[in-house]
Amino acid sequence: MLDVPHRPTESDHEPDHSSAPIAPSIMNGSVNSWVPHDIVMKDTWFPLAHGFAVGKKPVRRAIYSHPYYLWRENGVAVASEFHPNERRTGEKSPYTNAAGHYPVMERYGYVWGWFGRPEAADPAHLPSLPFLPPNGNLPKYLLGTVRFDCSAPLSLENLIDLTHADFLHANVVGDEKSESEDVEVFTTSETITMVRTCKGKSVAPVMKFFSGIKTPVQDIRQVIHIYLRSHCAIAYGRFEPGDDVPLFHPCVPETRDRTRLDYTMNTSNAGFMFRHIMPRASYVVSRQDSSMTSPQSPRYMREEKRRDLHSPFDSAGQKYRSLMLDLAKRQAVGDFDYRDNVSDDCSDLIGLRKELFRY
Ligand SMILES: [Fe+2]
Repeated sequence: MLDVPHRPTESDHEPDHSSAPIAPSIMNGSVNSWVPHDIVMKDTWFPLAHGFAVGKKPVRRAIYSHPYYLWRENGVAVASEFHPNERRTGEKSPYTNAAGHYPVMERYGYVWGWFGRPEAADPAHLPSLPFLPPNGNLPKYLLGTVRFDCSAPLSLENLIDLTHADFLHANVVGDEKSESEDVEVFTTSETITMVRTCKGKSVAPVMKFFSGIKTPVQDIRQVIHIYLRSHCAIAYGRFEPGDDVPLFHPCVPETRDRTRLDYTMNTSNAGFMFRHIMPRASYVVSRQDSSMTSPQSPRYMREEKRRDLHSPFDSAGQKYRSLMLDLAKRQAVGDFDYRDNVSDDCSDLIGLRKELFRY
């Protein structure tokens, strides 16, 4: 919350990278010379704040160090480069209109700010999030905020290799033991989807204790669906027996090495205990992720001679890198078009139990 008049800091007015020379890591980019800090995605919506967090008094957010002040006028969200009390000096951002305002919209319980050419802002480019009510209004215990000292694409690269959960989050979602495991990866120019199906997997401890699952094993189907430009991810898990775990996991790049997640875990269909406990588990899980990704982030800031020894068997991670590089390369030469739609309903792709989420 902003309580004092805002004094601009160095990071507020980072040079506009659109006119900077194109980073060689993007133009010659291969998945083995990956510098996620060089990637700045434009012409996309970022979920900047939960709707309830934006009121009459301005709050400050950022996208790639560009300040976004958010407040409401007559109940309608406004996003501005400047605090309303700040005297405007210097050049205005190329991403705002004449009044210094960014395009803004509200859906799924979030205030979304557009980063890119203002004239290209269009609700048609908003990601489909079918397990969230379009008008928001979910209870606050399903919402939370965590931060990573890590470049947003690294956070997502970590997420898309779902098998990490068996090791890093075993005490929450269960260990690596299962009778069978199958991984599929689907892509478009704007999205990547990983589907992992396991039969007879060790029961997730959180379900053993809070959903009352008595069987020793369960069948699972987990999906990670990432919208590349907006750095928004869906993490949807189906557990049999057990409860659904529908998580909206946006990774907003506040700066190029700091990520903010205003998440929503819509367990509102589950039993009382699980419904309340599971969204809180994000605080435990995110600390576990952070212990891995935060030390990694500075090592990816510039190209290294040392080889990047990530696993070539992680096909989802490899494809994530190459799709991000393709988009960044196109944007570097001025092509911001969407070749694939991101707002079409993705319920079937993620295998959503639609009967549980009729909005
Ligand atoms: Fe994780």
